[in-house]
Amino acid sequence: MKDLFAKIYKDKGPLGKWAEQAEGYFVFPKLEGQISNRMKFQGKDVITWSINDYLGLANHPEVRKVDAEAAAEYGSAYPMGARMMSGHTALHEKLQNELAAFVSKEAAYLLNFGYQGIMSTIDALVAKDDIIVYDVDSHACIIDGVRLHMGKRFTYKHNDIESLEKNLERATKMAETTGGGILVVSEGVFGMRGEQGRLKEIVALKQKFNFRLLVDDAHGFGTLGATGAGAGEEQGVQDDIDVYFATFAKSLASTGAFIAGDKEIMDYLKYNLRSQMFAKSLQMTLTVGALKRLDMLRTMPELKQNLWKIVNALQSGLKERGFDIGSTTSCVTPVYLNGSIPEAMALVRDLRENYGIFCSIVVYPVIPKGLILLRMIPTATHTLQDVAETLDAFDAIRTRLENGTYKRMSAALMKAMGE
Ligand SMILES: Cc1ncc(COP(=O)(O)O)c(C=O)c1O
Repeated sequence: MKDLFAKIYKDKGPLGKWAEQAEGYFVFPKLEGQISNRMKFQGKDVITWSINDYLGLANHPEVRKVDAEAAAEYGSAYPMGARMMSGHTALHEKLQNELAAFVSKEAAYLLNFGYQGIMSTIDALVAKDDIIVYDVDSHACIIDGVRLHMGKRFTYKHNDIESLEKNLERATKMAETTGGGILVVSEGVFGMRGEQGRLKEIVALKQKFNFRLLVDDAHGFGTLGATGAGAGEEQGVQDDIDVYFATFAKSLASTGAFIAGDKEIMDYLKYNLRSQMFAKSLQMTLTVGALKRLDMLRTMPELKQNLWKIVNALQSGLKERGFDIGSTTSCVTPVYLNGSIPEAMALVRDLRENYGIFCSIVVYPVIPKGLILLRMIPTATHTLQDVAETLDAFDAIRTRLENGTYKRMSAALMKAMGE
């Protein structure tokens, strides 16, 4: 019989196999200093474009003050226990009510982490005879939620309404035999490429098909829509989203998440979300901190305005200089270049060491082979000077990529990897 670990000793997985070359630098890098537009990486100052602190709340003095006061008052234990048992408080309820009002829903329910929370939401919404139809490029948490489903599921091509319609036809036929219903899942904003989910067109299909819609708006909440209520508000279809999900991990610069929808549905989920029912309640410091952040989101529209000033300068600057930024319709700013993984590593090293620019790098298997995706997350704390320096740096690294500099630099690495 095989040792359980034998496969692990042999194969570290598609990303894990690069650990020796990548760890500490490309993956698990240690950014130091206060969370802001400029931080330190390996002792050097870098402009940071890889922190999802969209509205610049992470290190805002008012936020830091409230976080510190809440920590002093409650410590990190309070409340003890799961919501159902002993972890429920008036402040958790207050936050839920305020979140529900902000996203124009009857009720909301807090989740300790978005990832587990949305998994359990999917799990709780569907029974064995139901069918899930979801975008093939969905975030891992949606895919893991779908994995919990005992019944049928279909993917549709990324953001492709024709493909969704085809799969809804298949799902409808199947549901007629199983006697179940259909759950469609989309993201409000796809976090890698920055495209908004085509919610308006998805919702229009409700005229033709009978389904309920769950939207993961992790990147849309706080950044899109007139009030910052997200992609549904931006596209004028918030009322047609049956279950709205957002995390505190991005615009609210914290930890935690929530779902929102009709009261009866939230009441049901409250009693059926396994990862919340059997896990400790959201810490009070996070609850109080989220109340403060939500209040700032509501009352300080300049935060979102500052964010978009930077987004627009960065995206239009990149386009003017001929960079391919795909079809982003959000703050997420991808830059697509052609090259191998070793070339990508040499390029990012150059960007960080010689140009002081820190952004995330995404390569195969997350995106197709031969493509390099440099992903930038603008925030309200960035300046136009940061944008100008970044654009100049991108010009320089593109020239070096095209003239083969990174190929030469990476040749030794490729040899060592046996590629
Ligand atoms: C689209 C999307 N959904 C869900 C999550 C998970 O949220 P959390 O970090 O609160 O677990 C993330 C990442 O934060 C995300 O990008």
